[in-house]
Amino acid sequence: MDSFHINGGRRLEGTIRVNGSKNAALPLMAASLLADDQVRLMDVPDLADIRSMRRLLDELGVEVSSSEPGDEPASLTMKVVDDTASHARYEIVRTMRASICVLGPLLAKRGRARVSMPGGCAIGERPVDLHLRGLEALGASIELESGDVVAEAPGGRLRGATVFLGGAFGSTVLGTANVMSAAVLAEGTSVIESAACEPEVVDLARLLNAMGARISGAGTPRIVIEGVDRLGGAEHTVMPDRIEAGTFMCAAAITNGSLTIENTPVDCMIAVLDRLAALGIEVELLDASDPLRATCRVASGRVLHPIRVTTQPHPGFPTDLQAQLMALLCLADGNSIVTEKVFPERFLHVAELSRMGAQLHRQGATVVVTGVRELRGAPVMASDLRASASLVLAGLAARGTTIVNRVYHLDRGYERLEERLVRLGADIRRVSDSA
Ligand code: EPZ
Repeated sequence: MDSFHINGGRRLEGTIRVNGSKNAALPLMAASLLADDQVRLMDVPDLADIRSMRRLLDELGVEVSSSEPGDEPASLTMKVVDDTASHARYEIVRTMRASICVLGPLLAKRGRARVSMPGGCAIGERPVDLHLRGLEALGASIELESGDVVAEAPGGRLRGATVFLGGAFGSTVLGTANVMSAAVLAEGTSVIESAACEPEVVDLARLLNAMGARISGAGTPRIVIEGVDRLGGAEHTVMPDRIEAGTFMCAAAITNGSLTIENTPVDCMIAVLDRLAALGIEVELLDASDPLRATCRVASGRVLHPIRVTTQPHPGFPTDLQAQLMALLCLADGNSIVTEKVFPERFLHVAELSRMGAQLHRQGATVVVTGVRELRGAPVMASDLRASASLVLAGLAARGTTIVNRVYHLDRGYERLEERLVRLGADIRRVSDSA
């Protein structure tokens, strides 16, 4: 298993471009199962999770081809060539729980689906009860068999209905994607109440509408879908990754650097910009002619002010940036309070940051972060994608050497991160186990 070796203390400076969003690309790829013609996605990031989804779609009869290296923008083309399969096997789903997002499209298009129940993961139990409740409301019969969800659409077609997707922690992003994707081919009109408002859901609705769906209200808690008989092909550029953008903003701040960040979806990051401003980090908009693909400059204030931050469903502060912000707060001038309302157990980075001298005190879903003058390099263990990013950020700022082990977690969501950071002045290198 690879690790990153980081010698901290270097300011990051230069320009970096945000890649297409992993969390948008995965449901967008799954939507190809609904199409009678070819779907082409531009700006799909080259990540482990994307490769897992390609393998899954291949098993489900979708031919996936990449653009030639060097062709800009990098794109994936998907075409259904065999619609007889409908089983998403445990061996693939266990490597990437987001595989669950093929459930809705398979059920809608092929009338049946067998998808392994995704297990929990490092950040929490990750149930799918809301997904299943939503699909049952559309008329699906759902059974659990040997760890698989077995779903059938009576007569091969779902029926439009009103679906409530609210759960104890807000709505569900992939659950909304699943139910919305299933409803586009249902008989009649569906209403999703308490839908997830995340920008990635909006991006999926844009692609589905380009394919011929009739979706309105995406991005609001109420989405209305008028069922249609078929969906054609389309071309679509994946929205930029707001979490990667936020991670780079934290990287500029934690190293006292100055970064120009291109392809930034600032329009989806108001809560993030609000908390960074409270910290003393200004994000200057250099070109916001397209607020979904803006160029901005981030420089750190000399002093980081302590803040309070609570993660919420969009448009609140995103849970996927909680760990990265916490690394930054470790160096703030006072006590900050971090509360995690989406995944209350999402704190595996706390123990590892503490190994680097951070002063963190957890009480349930809240962590008090007492700022320290400096962090010190240490060997630490990555546990999940965003916790790994948090440890890399801390290592970039720490005095001495930090070794982040098990960076395969990081490779799931950040493309060649170490190469991109080196170009910005970081002293970081990947060490393979075989080395
Ligand atoms: C998506 O996961 C993202 N993943 C996650 O990003 C992100 O953290 C999460 O949304 C929240 O924003 C992808 O898009 C691939 P949820 P998802 O269903 O859809 C509870 C990353 O780091 N819940 O919105 O699986 C659930 O336990 C990943 O890129 C139910 O109770 O998350 C959680 O507390 C990590 N029942 C809350 O809702 C359900 O049926 C939000 O989960 C579904 C969810």
